[in-house]
Amino acid sequence: MHQTTLLSVLGAATAVLGHPLKHNGHAGNATIKCPIVFDGRIKTASVLADFDSYSTSIFNPDYVKGGTLKWSEIIKFPNTGANARFDDADYKPFEVTLSDNSIFQTQKGFRRAGLQFQGDTNNDSPAATGIKTIHFSVKQDAQRPLNLTHEYLNVWHEAADYSANQFNFEVGTILGQTGLPKNTFKVLNRQNKQIWSTPVEKSDWQNFAITLDFNKNTLQVYYSKGDDPLKSVTQAVSNNNAGGGQYQIGLLKKPTGTSDVVNAGYQESKINEGQIYGSLFIEDSAGGCVSL
Ligand SMILES: *[C@@H]1O[C@H](CO)[C@@H](O)[C@H](O)[C@H]1NC(C)=O
Ligand SMILES: *[C@@H]1O[C@H](CO)[C@@H](O)[C@H](O)[C@H]1NC(C)=O
Repeated sequence: MHQTTLLSVLGAATAVLGHPLKHNGHAGNATIKCPIVFDGRIKTASVLADFDSYSTSIFNPDYVKGGTLKWSEIIKFPNTGANARFDDADYKPFEVTLSDNSIFQTQKGFRRAGLQFQGDTNNDSPAATGIKTIHFSVKQDAQRPLNLTHEYLNVWHEAADYSANQFNFEVGTILGQTGLPKNTFKVLNRQNKQIWSTPVEKSDWQNFAITLDFNKNTLQVYYSKGDDPLKSVTQAVSNNNAGGGQYQIGLLKKPTGTSDVVNAGYQESKINEGQIYGSLFIEDSAGGCVSL
């Protein structure tokens, strides 16, 4: 190739890819004021392959995903125009995607990809004791929309014996609760009863925090949009937080038309869906500390 042509091609590529921060608009400027227990924020310099190895990923590289997929194939780094509030210039958003290959082990009913923090052990995790707050922001990808005819679990904490989830952060049509609107994010308690919901925004960041008090068995939800500081939107409501277990962040899409959601039911083929995340971390809320 002629040299000037090559240079102009390289120049064009740089303009398109840009600097990660410039490319992604302005950085977040909210301050984390409590000790971080698990940091799920993705460094601006991270590459997708970092998700595939214990030495470079902040998450478990082997779970919870389709066996034929690597995390580097599941995660995308989307251009969101702006970072989420707690993602300053050192961090960037990431997206968890689902495809027809998102089948974990033999769970053919689900399409799922869920990140677990490295160190968040199923028993005796530091994040399942005392008072802890999980923070996450979500944004929708117009190129990979979710199909809200289905029920999705996005963020949750599953008891160590897998018998229940202490809480679920969900979107879509909740099976068996079709009276609830489908286009809302919902926080459900251990009994799968909705304790709070808010409409899904098409373009804004939506910021959530959930405080779990493992001593008093309560749960409290905080929320804001865009760059706004979080506000509590529920009281500390009674919830059974016992049973240890792990957090999971990503997407678990349930099928339709079955009572055996794990193994059976209907899932469309050729799906290409995603949920964008940012500002993901768990902080120690001892003494009532919550970063807003
Ligand atoms: C943080 O960023 C938002 C959005 O750019 C801006 O409105 C706000 O003034 C900033 N706050 C501080 C303390 O810099
Ligand atoms: C949403 O899911 C339902 C049930 O699987 C399916 O019938 C429908 O075609 C899907 N809609 C879109 C827009 O993908």
